[in-house]
Amino acid sequence: MDQEIWSDVDNYYEELIVRPDPRFNKIIEASLEAGLPSINITSSLGKLLELLVRFQGASRVLEIGTLGGYSTAWLAQGLPPGGKVITLEKKPEHAAVARRNLSQFEFSSSIDIQVGDAMNTLRTLYKDRKGPFDLIFLDANKTEYCDYLDWSIKLSRPGTMIIADNVVRRGNIINENSEDLSVRGIRDFNLKVSGNPRLRATVIQTVSPKGYDGFSLIYVDPE
Ligand code: DHB
Ligand code: MG
Repeated sequence: MDQEIWSDVDNYYEELIVRPDPRFNKIIEASLEAGLPSINITSSLGKLLELLVRFQGASRVLEIGTLGGYSTAWLAQGLPPGGKVITLEKKPEHAAVARRNLSQFEFSSSIDIQVGDAMNTLRTLYKDRKGPFDLIFLDANKTEYCDYLDWSIKLSRPGTMIIADNVVRRGNIINENSEDLSVRGIRDFNLKVSGNPRLRATVIQTVSPKGYDGFSLIYVDPE
């Protein structure tokens, strides 16, 4: 049981059930061509994000970590009319690729790409009362997940759904002596989730063409 069968099953379900619009694969191709790292989410996780936006009835969505805009497109595809995704990207060159990738979708005007350091942008969003968000997807720098969580809670309302990508990392997450800064960042994030009485959370482990990883699903209680 390994990578090959995980990928074959993922492909089987992608074709039969997930069925991404062909433009989603174009995002991946264009991002590869532009030299972006190939760390986008899978189509099955993307479809899950779309469905969670729909189940949540989310019209205000925040994403931290745009990269080429692949997950952004899935999130935006779940929005009701008038809904909005604000997505944060540190690198202007990645944001430019994402902007181009997303321009081909009819929902592109519902996407706001904010370029710059996430911590500055989050502070500004809070100051400008851009929250609360109904759904927040964390998928950027793993060493900053604790800070993303603090700002996400400030930008939330009771019932906000927070999803955090990459919390298993091939199982390395359970290595308490890991020197991998990403693992340490996620372990600190996990402690923060665990220690906050307002947060109800679970973790889903995943296997896919991207290997073995997982995501957290967090519900924000009233204060
Ligand atoms: C990495 C980051 C991601 O968001 C991801 O989904 C997989 C890998 C990384 O930085 O290695
Ligand atoms: Mg990720």
